[in-house]
Amino acid sequence: MDTSSLPVALETPSLFDNRGFIAGKWRHASSNKTFPVLEPSTGRTLAQCADFSTQDFVEAIETADAEFKQFFSTTTAKQRGTFLRKWNDLILENSQDIAKILSLENGKTLAEAKGEVIYAASFVSWFAEEATRSYGDVIPSSYPNNTVMTFKEPVGVCGIITPWNFPAAMITRKIAPAFAAGCSVVIKPPSETPFTAIALVKLALLGGVPPGVVNIVPTKDRQASLQLATHPRVRKLSFTGSTNVGKMLTKLAADTMKRISMELGGNAPFIVFQDADLDKAVEGALICKFRSSGQTCVCANRLFVHESVLEEFTDRMIKRVKSFQLGRGIDEGVTHGPLVNAAAVEKVKSHVQDALDKGGRLRYGGAVPVDRSSGYFFEPTIITGAHKDMHVANDETFGPLAAIFSFSSEDEVVSLANDTEFGLAGYFFSNDINRIFRVSRRIECGMIGVNTGLISAAEAPFGGVKESGVGREGSKYGLAEYQNIKSVTIGGV
Ligand code: SIN
Repeated sequence: MDTSSLPVALETPSLFDNRGFIAGKWRHASSNKTFPVLEPSTGRTLAQCADFSTQDFVEAIETADAEFKQFFSTTTAKQRGTFLRKWNDLILENSQDIAKILSLENGKTLAEAKGEVIYAASFVSWFAEEATRSYGDVIPSSYPNNTVMTFKEPVGVCGIITPWNFPAAMITRKIAPAFAAGCSVVIKPPSETPFTAIALVKLALLGGVPPGVVNIVPTKDRQASLQLATHPRVRKLSFTGSTNVGKMLTKLAADTMKRISMELGGNAPFIVFQDADLDKAVEGALICKFRSSGQTCVCANRLFVHESVLEEFTDRMIKRVKSFQLGRGIDEGVTHGPLVNAAAVEKVKSHVQDALDKGGRLRYGGAVPVDRSSGYFFEPTIITGAHKDMHVANDETFGPLAAIFSFSSEDEVVSLANDTEFGLAGYFFSNDINRIFRVSRRIECGMIGVNTGLISAAEAPFGGVKESGVGREGSKYGLAEYQNIKSVTIGGV
């Protein structure tokens, strides 16, 4: 593909590709259909990407099914670990190029993109090690002369649907454990950011993942991608995205009783108690609220600050946010990029307007920056006087709005924090060890950050409770999501 029109030069231009990889071949859609991928920093088309159909998904799934049987029966866990290690090395060697592609199509800054590539690779190296540490059991039988054993077996073909906010890490977090377990995969990358995913698949193939075991099928055709939820040969569906889409996919997958992993929406509480170290709390809030311009599902959505420290905390936040430099992610000196598209900007605008209409006080930002009218930018925004009747209290903004709520007691704030159908991440800052244990137990979330705004790492189980999803990714638990347990009872031994 001609990369001369890209606004950045790549060391290995062949990494930038707009084709899918289906049944062992790089190819365009048979209809030659394509869809435009926009650069969120400018709103202009970055490149066209192949737009595949239902028939292409069926072909990819059937190939993945045939290859899976061969793959698992002819490779050892050690061999699968070896090609994962090679893939990890290739990702790190090509991290500059991948980060540039990622920054262009997603908008996040080059520094954030580089951080994400390293984060993405960390899942590959983690599961390279986990591959060889997956043991079965020998279980004492209640019948004389019987022995019960368990084997861990790969679930089979995995449908992988990933989001645009982490175009690299959400793919590796899913497919590295799938390969470690011995599964094959069909990936539907996000239509906003398909090129990072395609580059990663190229490197996986170079690392030794057999063709056919990995398939990537970009599409804008929602109906076509639903094959991953409905086709009987797909035995597992792993999705990261909104709760509404996750519920729809779960219902579809139920018809063929697929295993599912659903990493869905959040509404993270971020609590600053009166005994917190305010410097650390501000630092944590800046990372947790404004990372990727507020577009992570573990971003703080509701900042609860004890009434005695609220003004001090707010002033310090404003001071720090004033130093943010909004701009094109690939440009030097930019600290925060745009939102992903026009709809994302509209959502932030509507949350801000609703908060102001309902009595919130605008302390900083609140608008589309005047010097950034092309591209999808919104100013980092701080509003105090937030309360539970505002949209921001009930719905994830997924943008750079810090809505600050006041509270006066631990019981009150725990009940406010839990007053949501979501339960992905939650954070609190306190120097009281008793409170740290007590509140960690009381908050209804799958992940808690105490005195830190950053909880994501390959070794830490990632996942939610309530309507934030089912399953855990990363960590020692992530491999089991791609395995079935088979019990074998041997009689008369
Ligand atoms: C996400 O937003 O979906 C993932 C965030 C993370 O891994 O930190």
